[in-house]
Amino acid sequence: MPALVAFHRALYLDEPARFLSQELVEHYAYRDMDELVAHDIHGLLVDGVSTVLIAELEGVPAGYIIGHVEDDPRRVLPRVGLVTDWLIVERERHRGIGRQLMESLTSVFVRLGCDAVESRTYAANRGALRAHAALGFCEVEIRMRRSCARPLPTDARACR
Ligand SMILES: CC(C)(COP(=O)(O)OP(=O)(O)OC[C@H]1O[C@@H](n2cnc3c(N)ncnc32)[C@H](O)[C@@H]1OP(=O)(O)O)[C@@H](O)C(=O)NCCC(=O)NCCS
Repeated sequence: MPALVAFHRALYLDEPARFLSQELVEHYAYRDMDELVAHDIHGLLVDGVSTVLIAELEGVPAGYIIGHVEDDPRRVLPRVGLVTDWLIVERERHRGIGRQLMESLTSVFVRLGCDAVESRTYAANRGALRAHAALGFCEVEIRMRRSCARPLPTDARACR
């Protein structure tokens, strides 16, 4: 439980602050991080829908991955496993633990009848984009945002 809290705080607060511009940090900031983390984790533990996997090294939590199945019966391939959270503590990165967690969660999704796995991250999170690419993920959608406070730009270099 304390590990989940620490991982969640790192993923939603510390990591984005490293690569998001100050403007985007403000756009995505939460009003009450403690409340958010407590609410998220309580929800995960009681909803019975999400799979939560924690990696341990010699009994010490090193990272986590969380996901759930999204079902859209209108689709030819209706079941997709969605990875919602994926983090390895900094000192244990690049040792294959993230890959192992992704493999384990994928096996769960396959057992649950999924045809594909989806994952999301910020466009500016270059490390995560490269890690996903290394694990066979392809970019399929692009989500865009602009501040209402600024006028529509007249040149294309205004993106920050
Ligand atoms: C993304 C993350 C979970 C990867 O965990 P990890 O344990 O370091 O990953 P692994 O060591 O298992 O590496 C898996 C593959 O991704 C590649 N990779 C991982 N991080 C990379 C990086 N920063 N740049 C380039 N490639 C990277 C590895 O080379 C490896 O490829 P290979 O198996 O073909 O050699 C970890 O970097 C992390 O916690 N990042 C911060 C949180 C985050 O951004 N989460 C993802 C968004 S939800």
